[in-house]
Amino acid sequence: MVKVAPSLLAADAGNLYAQVQMAENAGAKWLHFDIMDGHFVPNLSFGPHIVKQLRPHSKMFFDVHLMVENPEQFLPMFADAGADLLTMHIEAAKNLPEIFSYLRQRMIKIGLSLKPHTPAESLLPYLDNIDNILVMTVEPGFGGQPFMPDQLAKIAALKRYIGERKITIEVDGGINLETGAECVAHGADVLVAGSAIFKAQNPAQYIKQLRTIGE
Ligand code: DX5
Ligand code: ZN
Repeated sequence: MVKVAPSLLAADAGNLYAQVQMAENAGAKWLHFDIMDGHFVPNLSFGPHIVKQLRPHSKMFFDVHLMVENPEQFLPMFADAGADLLTMHIEAAKNLPEIFSYLRQRMIKIGLSLKPHTPAESLLPYLDNIDNILVMTVEPGFGGQPFMPDQLAKIAALKRYIGERKITIEVDGGINLETGAECVAHGADVLVAGSAIFKAQNPAQYIKQLRTIGE
């Protein structure tokens, strides 16, 4: 069954706790936190504080997407805050073997993400070390952008490369019922959605519909 990861970036920040409860009650299993540093992407969002503050209020799997330079610098903060999965960009992460052993020792799942122009093959050396691949289906930095259909072939290629390994493929950017269905048909396991959920007339209903994709 496909997992839905509502992206807090699009949620009403003045009403965050209620929005998180709504997502959890609607059956979302993951909660997506977009961390932006103004360097790796030309935007700012939030930091570990918000992960820590929400942690006692939710049993969802906290999926932290680090759109930052030098992600290694921030891993301990997000680990302490209660992240379940830390996904770094392959374009930004240095010294991956050290990062892998740190996160394993902290019992945190490891993710690598690819910008749209980064080829699937750049992950080949790391497939035995990671739990999640986050395929960006827009240029990272902002919610509300249109889905890039040319990323579907990359999803399918990654699915083939993964083979029998237990690695999830997560897609992020411009995901709605239509584009989400395309991604699942090409091999995606987790759908991140911001605007489509939080701008829907009935966000809880929209989450439930996304969950039924591929059934
Ligand atoms: C974009 C972020 C996304 C963003 C998706 O850089 O990584 O997680 O919140 O937003 P939508 O679903 O609106 O494209
Ligand atoms: Zn994201």
